[in-house]
Order: sequence, then structure tokens, then C-alpha cells
Amino acid sequence: MALYALGDLHLSFQADKPMDRFGRVWKHHERKIEKYVRQIVKPDDTLVLTGDHSWGRKLEECRSDLAFIEALPGRKILLRGNHDMFWEAKKTQRLNEEFAGRLFFLQNNFASYGEYALVGTKGYTFEGPFYLDRRGRVIGWDEKKEEQAKKLVDREMRRLRESFQMAREAGYRKFVMFLHYPPTSILEKTSPFTEIAEEYKVSAVVYSHCHGESRFGDSIRGIFHDIPYLLVSGDYLNFHPALVME
Ligand SMILES: [Fe+2]
Ligand SMILES: [Fe+2]
Repeated sequence: MALYALGDLHLSFQADKPMDRFGRVWKHHERKIEKYVRQIVKPDDTLVLTGDHSWGRKLEECRSDLAFIEALPGRKILLRGNHDMFWEAKKTQRLNEEFAGRLFFLQNNFASYGEYALVGTKGYTFEGPFYLDRRGRVIGWDEKKEEQAKKLVDREMRRLRESFQMAREAGYRKFVMFLHYPPTSILEKTSPFTEIAEEYKVSAVVYSHCHGESRFGDSIRGIFHDIPYLLVSGDYLNFHPALVME
């Protein structure tokens, strides 16, 4: 039994959204997903998909993408990404009822993995309110955007806290924390997300969302304050699921 993670499948079996134009790594990426997930993930393993599953805007436009995910080996747990328009946070329960025994939607709830609770939420990392030049120097600041970003971080933190509390009330003391967005923005060393990870002494923080060479280093990778941080964006891993723990 092993725990794997992979993010940002960006499937478009129904939506007209060819991914090739984002670079060679995306050429027939769905074939790579199928091939590598089948090579690596075994039927009794758990695979957490960290958001941006489908380009479909409504559930009906995502059916083929979700069916593709369903057919992959292992227990599949899905997190919300910023592009997952089909999934309103409030309707998570409904999705879990509809896909019961096939897919689990992680939002304001938790999943168990042995003695670990898998907790998570989309998170939020702003790419402004600051504006940077090519060398990464701050050349502008948008206070309105900053205020809005703080609200989104607060909302996501409430959701994440709920996930942790539910797991704790159910008796769990060990946690793996999943986010779609990176835990810090490029100007931050720490954030409310790194703080809660430390508060609950999580065994790992797993996130994705960063695409392209120039963005892979946007946030923490490796050990920070004794906690491993794993970037699992599909293009970063060339669509090989990353081992989180065995
Ligand atoms: Fe993405
Ligand atoms: Fe994303």
C-alpha cells in the first residue's frame, strides 16, 4: 500500500482545449498519464489528484475526464483546483454521493490512509498584488487586490481548518496536507498554510498548480521547518505520480 500524488491533469476529452500549445511536455499528455499511472500505481494504492482535473465548465462537460480518472488504478481522491468549475465547494457532498465507491472529493472533509488523515483544500496564492520586473524586483503594488487575496486566503484557511478538525475529532493524530495552490507566494517565506502545517506537525505538504520551468521554483520544495514539501504538477513530473509515503 502506497500513497501517490499527481496534479493538474488538465484533461479535455469533451472540452475543446488542446494542451499541445503549452509545450512539448503536454503533447498527448493524457496518454502519458494513463501509461505512467498504470506503471506506478497498484490497485491497493491511493492516488491523490491535486486539482485542475478538467477543462469542462459543468459536470456534464467533465464526464469523460472523470471517467478516465475513474478507470486509473488505485483509490482516487480529488482536490479542487482553480480550473475545476464543475465543482462548487458547497456541492461536494452531492459529488461524493454520486461517485461513492469510485472517486472521493476532498473538501471540508478528510480521507483516511492507514493511521494518517489526508486533509486539504484548494488554498490560494496570489501572483499579484505585487508586480515584478524580469529580474523579480517589485515595481508595483495593488492594494485592492491585496485585500481580495487576504479574503480568499482566510476562506481557504477556514476550509482547511475544518478538514483538520474533523480528522482530529475522528481520532487522527497524523496528517498529510494537500493544496492545489503553492503554500507560499514568490515573495513569502511563510504563510498561514505553512503555519497550520507546522501547528498540526503534518508529515508532508503536497501541492501543484505551478506550470513551466520558470514557475516550478515559485514556492517551497524539499524540507522546510522539518516538513517535506512536494510539488506534484503534472508537467513538473512529466506525469509520473510522486510517491508521498509507503
Ligand atoms: Fe493547472
Ligand atoms: Fe491551477
